[in-house]
Amino acid sequence: MKTLIILLLWVLLLTFSFSTSSYTNSNSTSETYTLINATNLAKPGCPSRCGDVIVPYPFGMGIDTNCSIGHGFDVYCNNSTNPPKASFSEADYISIRVISDSTVRISNNVASKCYFQNGTVSSGFKIWENFTVRPYTFSEVNKFTVIGCNDYAWLTSETESRYVSTGCATRCLTEKDVEGDQCSGNGCCQSSIPKSINYYRARVLSMDASDDMSYTRSFNPCTYAFLGEENAFKFNGLTDLNDTRLAEKIEANVPTVLDWAIGNISCTEAKSMGGFACQYANSRCVNSTRESGGYRCICNEGYEGNPYLSPGCKDIDECKDPNKYPCYGTCVNTAGNYTCKSKWGHYGDAKSKDGCRRNGNENENANAGEWE
Ligand SMILES: *[C@@H]1O[C@H](CO)[C@@H](O)[C@H](O)[C@H]1NC(C)=O
Ligand SMILES: *[C@@H]1O[C@H](CO)[C@@H](O)[C@H](O)[C@H]1NC(C)=O
Ligand SMILES: *[C@@H]1O[C@H](CO)[C@@H](O)[C@H](O)[C@H]1NC(C)=O
Ligand SMILES: *[C@@H]1O[C@H](CO)[C@@H](O)[C@H](O)[C@H]1NC(C)=O
Ligand SMILES: *[C@@H]1O[C@H](CO)[C@@H](O)[C@H](O)[C@H]1NC(C)=O
Ligand SMILES: *[C@@H]1O[C@H](CO)[C@@H](O)[C@H](O)[C@H]1NC(C)=O
Ligand SMILES: *[C@@H]1O[C@H](CO)[C@@H](O)[C@H](O)[C@H]1NC(C)=O
Ligand SMILES: *[C@@H]1O[C@H](CO)[C@@H](O)[C@H](O)[C@H]1NC(C)=O
Ligand SMILES: *[C@@H]1O[C@H](CO)[C@@H](O)[C@H](O)[C@H]1NC(C)=O
Ligand SMILES: *[C@@H]1O[C@H](CO)[C@@H](O)[C@H](O)[C@H]1NC(C)=O
Ligand SMILES: *[C@@H]1O[C@H](CO)[C@@H](O)[C@H](O)[C@H]1NC(C)=O
Repeated sequence: MKTLIILLLWVLLLTFSFSTSSYTNSNSTSETYTLINATNLAKPGCPSRCGDVIVPYPFGMGIDTNCSIGHGFDVYCNNSTNPPKASFSEADYISIRVISDSTVRISNNVASKCYFQNGTVSSGFKIWENFTVRPYTFSEVNKFTVIGCNDYAWLTSETESRYVSTGCATRCLTEKDVEGDQCSGNGCCQSSIPKSINYYRARVLSMDASDDMSYTRSFNPCTYAFLGEENAFKFNGLTDLNDTRLAEKIEANVPTVLDWAIGNISCTEAKSMGGFACQYANSRCVNSTRESGGYRCICNEGYEGNPYLSPGCKDIDECKDPNKYPCYGTCVNTAGNYTCKSKWGHYGDAKSKDGCRRNGNENENANAGEWE
C-alpha cells in the first residue's frame, strides 16, 4: 500500500517535470553590457553606483527621485552596510548584483527543511518572490534545483493565462545512492521553469515519514530548494548533502536571473504613444520575447552607449581596440564599422595574422582594389 502511494507520487512528479520541460527552448540570448560601460550612464545629477553595482538609466538610484524611467526601475542603496547594498526597495532581503542590457542578477533565496537525527522535522523555511508590480520576469536560464534526500519541492506560479508549477524529487537512502557530482535525481534534481512568470512560491516537502530515515539524516540533515542560474551552480555530491551552511553559500554564489523590459506593449505600439524610450541616435527598439510584452532599446551594430539617454549611441572606434577588432594592416574607422587593408605593396586579408602577402609573381589574383 505504502509503495503504491510512493509510486503514484513519483508518476505525478515525473509527469509534472516532463510537462514543464517543454518550456526549455531558449538558450540564453548572448547577454551584452553596453549600458553599464556607457559614458552617458545616468541622468545628469543622478548617482550611478551603489558599491560595486553600476546603475544605468532606465534604472535609477533612489526611490522616487526621478532618476529612473519609472518606479519599477528604482534602485535603493543602503550605505550603512560595507560594501553598500543595492536592492529594489528599502529593507529588502534580496540584493541586486549586476544589471545587463536585458537582465538583472539578484541574490538567491533558498527554501529548506531540516531534520533531527531521528528523522523528525526540526525547521522549515518557505520562499516567495513577487515582481508583479515591477518590470521583471524570471529568466529561463534559471533552473529550480532541489538538494537533499527523499524529499521533493514545488514551485507554483501563474502567467497571464494560467496556473503553472514545476518541481522534482530526489532519492537517496545511503551515500552509495548518490552518484558523484551529477544532479540527476539522486541527492539532487533540477527542473526547467515556466516561461514569463513574475512571481513564485516554493517549499520543500517530505516524501514519506514512515521510512526509517535516521541513517540517511546522518549524512543529509537538510534539504534545500532554490531558483537560480543553471550555469552558476555545481552540485558537489555528498559534501553538499552534509553541508548545513549550504543555503548561505547558494545565496552568496548562485544568482537568480531576471529579464527586464519597459512596459507591456511592443515597439510598434509604443512608438505611436507618448514617452517612447528609444528616440536617440544610432539605436533601435527590440520587442521583449516574453508573454507579458514590453520592449528595450539597443545600439545599432558598431555603436555603443546608452540608447535611452541623450545623445544616444556613438560610433565604436574599432581601431583603438585591436584585441577585439584585429587588424594587421592599415585600420580606418568608419561610421558603424572599420576597414582594414594590407599595407602598400601587399594584398590579402589584413584582419587575420599573416593574411597579407607581398604583391608579385606568386598570385595573379592580387587585388588592386586593396592598394591604399
Ligand atoms: C547555448 O549556447 C552556447 C554558446 O552560446 C553553446 O555553447 C551551448 O551549447 C548552447 N546550448 C544549447 C542547449 O543550445
Ligand atoms: C562592460 O562591462 C562588463 C562588466 O563590467 C564587461 O564584462 C564587458 O566586457 C565590458 N565591455 C563591453 C564592451 O561590454
Ligand atoms: C549612497 O551613496 C551614494 C554614493 O556613494 C549616494 O549617491 C546615495 O545617495 C547614497 N544613498 C543613501 C541612501 O544615502
Ligand atoms: C523628472 O524629470 C523630468 C525630465 O526628465 C522633468 O520634466 C520632471 O519635472 C521631473 N520631475 C520631478 C518631480 O523632478
Ligand atoms: C541598512 O543596512 C543596515 C545594516 O544591514 C540595516 O541595519 C538597516 O536596517 C538598513 N537600512 C534600511 C533602511 O534598510
Ligand atoms: C526526535 O528528536 C528530537 C530532538 O532530539 C526530539 O525532540 C523528538 O521528540 C524526537 N522525535 C521522535 C519521534 O523520537
Ligand atoms: C504580489 O504583490 C502584489 C503587490 O504587492 C500583490 O497585489 C499581489 O497579490 C502579490 N501576488 C502574490 C501572488 O502574492
Ligand atoms: C557531516 O558533517 C559533520 C560536521 O558538520 C561531520 O561530523 C560528519 O562526519 C559529516 N558526515 C559525513 C558523512 O560526511
Ligand atoms: C499594461 O500596462 C498598463 C500601464 O502600466 C496597465 O494599465 C495595463 O493593465 C497593462 N496591461 C496588461 C495586459 O497587463
Ligand atoms: C514588435 O512586435 C510587433 C507586434 O507584435 C510587430 O508588429 C513588430 O514588427 C515588432 N517589432 C520589432 C522591431 O521586432
Ligand atoms: C563591417 O563591414 C564588413 C565588411 O564589409 C561586414 O561584413 C560587416 O557586417 C560590417 N559590420 C557592421 C557592424 O556593419
